[in-house]
Amino acid sequence: MGTSTVTVTPVTGATGADVAGVDLTRPLSNAQWDSIHQAFLDHQVLRFRGQHVSPAQHLEFARRFGPVQRYPYGNGLPDFPDVLEFSRNPGDARNFGGLWHSDTTYLPEPPMATMLVARELPPVGGDTLFANMYLAHETLSDGMQAMLADMKAVFSATKRYMEEDRVAVHSGNALKKADEGVTTEAVHPVVRTHPETGRKALYVNRGHTVRFDGWTAAESEGLLNFLFGHAERPEFQCRMNWEDGTLIVWDNRCLQHFAVDDYPGRRRVMQRVTIAGDAPA
Ligand SMILES: [Fe+2]
Repeated sequence: MGTSTVTVTPVTGATGADVAGVDLTRPLSNAQWDSIHQAFLDHQVLRFRGQHVSPAQHLEFARRFGPVQRYPYGNGLPDFPDVLEFSRNPGDARNFGGLWHSDTTYLPEPPMATMLVARELPPVGGDTLFANMYLAHETLSDGMQAMLADMKAVFSATKRYMEEDRVAVHSGNALKKADEGVTTEAVHPVVRTHPETGRKALYVNRGHTVRFDGWTAAESEGLLNFLFGHAERPEFQCRMNWEDGTLIVWDNRCLQHFAVDDYPGRRRVMQRVTIAGDAPA
């Protein structure tokens, strides 16, 4: 028990908030958790500064949101298989997540949230952008909303640049390939309804969506490219920088994100836990 002293400060007019007044190395009171959970639903992505959590504490906080889910393409830390570490080293050509996407939407039940902790950072750069897909949907015309309402799309792990990303980031890790029994394709609604807020969100993303269900890739290309570009408009976004001890958790059901690759020749190490989600509907 105890009185919540959690403070929530929006980052932009579109999405994102800084949360202060909590110590994530200690168990949260129910009042603190209620404030954090409401802020998560209201702002979609939350940043916590100065949280030097161990992998066990990282997992403990993630489990307040729900059961954790392992990444299908990589192995976790030896003692914490649910914690995926990914590093960018000075010689690496590519950056993990360097295009707009929502995490692993090629799975039948993509993770509802992703929680990332910074372990090693470049002196400057390496920010993460987030875009609010509620706003992306709300700003489409009535005609476009009506057409998309009943459409589904095919999401795949095999879009070429995402494959290159995985090879680049996991070059030092034991990387599973698509032929090792990992699910690589799923069909989801183009617009999903958030199960907790009831709000509609545009769900197609440049990283994983390959075509509309029942349409050819060629037929899909024009409309998909319009929707990708619309989803990526700056007025739907916030930009989060990282400091030592920064922890960020975001809602994959109503956001896309983008990892900015502006720190060539520098090392960056992050640890990620994903929280299980449901089948988009
Ligand atoms: Fe991602």
